[in-house]
Amino acid sequence: MQRVAVIGLGPIGTRHANIYDEMEGAQLAAVCDIDKERADALAKVLKVPAFYDVPSLLETADLTMASVATGGKEYGSDHHGPTMQALAAGLHVLCEKPISNEIAPAEEMVALSREKGLCFGVDLNHRFTPAARLAKRWVDEGRVGHQLFMNMAMWIHNPRESSEWFQIKALHPHTVDIMRYFCGDIVEVQCFGLKAPGRSIYSTAQFNMRFASGCLGHLTGSYDIERGHPMERCEVAGIKGRFVIDDMYREATLYPAGEMEKRVYSNPVFGGMRDFEDTFRDRLGRFVQQLNEGARPEQIEASGEDGLQAQKVLAAAIESIQTGKIVAVR
Ligand SMILES: NC(=O)c1ccc[n+]([C@@H]2O[C@H](COP(=O)([O-])OP(=O)(O)OC[C@H]3O[C@@H](n4cnc5c(N)ncnc54)[C@H](O)[C@@H]3O)[C@@H](O)[C@H]2O)c1
Repeated sequence: MQRVAVIGLGPIGTRHANIYDEMEGAQLAAVCDIDKERADALAKVLKVPAFYDVPSLLETADLTMASVATGGKEYGSDHHGPTMQALAAGLHVLCEKPISNEIAPAEEMVALSREKGLCFGVDLNHRFTPAARLAKRWVDEGRVGHQLFMNMAMWIHNPRESSEWFQIKALHPHTVDIMRYFCGDIVEVQCFGLKAPGRSIYSTAQFNMRFASGCLGHLTGSYDIERGHPMERCEVAGIKGRFVIDDMYREATLYPAGEMEKRVYSNPVFGGMRDFEDTFRDRLGRFVQQLNEGARPEQIEASGEDGLQAQKVLAAAIESIQTGKIVAVR
């Protein structure tokens, strides 16, 4: 049983706290925000103690893990402090994406989790769906065969303008993680960005990538389109077959090469995912389940290392926009 504190109580941290509160295998033990009103308000609803700084939380509460849902510049600069403090105190940590908006702090977080032998996961929730798990099984069973190309796309509306690189750093941890989940490490990136009317950031971008396996990758993403219609599509093609996942959990279709019958998984009406929030339930639940089963740090799905590797791909994409060149992922 995990005793969890949620640190950072904006809309996303509040969601985390509510999910742990209802989760079997975990007990919400405390909430923490430097904004006292936010912390007190949620603590009152969920009937847990409120803390207003991480050191007091760690000194006082009896915890096994922390869920860090702070934000900051480019949605990621505030994750480093609480994550390092929680790891130093011996807690397992699940951190929101992006792991950090900069590479160096992300490397420190991953290094400290390794040094301490603690489990460190990132909330790369878009791959935590039954449809994505099934598609992963298709890959592992050889139904796709030798991989040829992967096309990934995601578009939502986010009017914030944290920095010129906000969309690339904050939206695409999700898409790049899905790409790496199915096709492995990415070694080279070329990227074009555009600033939509009225925006000062590269709010839409298109990336070409090469995977270590030789497979070719393409990614399109945008912060410029209102939500409502489908918002995410993933296609992986190999010599033996091709699959498409629509909207993370709605539908996964396998098209076996040379056969005229396709295989379709549809999100079931009974017991299926109800909405996007269920991807958080699945991801947070899986982290807790892995901890309760005694998983080793290197077995954690969507780990800190995965979060770091995604940001390295995105750093290469940004360098590509700046230089107009193809950039190796370092
Ligand atoms: N996984 C997803 O699908 C998804 C979706 C949206 C946002 N996010 C991520 O969730 C995170 C939070 O987003 P949000 O919109 O809730 O942000 P927010 O800015 O509204 O809330 C962050 C909260 O963290 C608090 N905070 C900052 N530093 C702190 C510290 N050291 N100790 C305690 N509290 C601290 C702030 O006071 C604030 O209340 C971001 O990193 C964002 O990228 C993830």
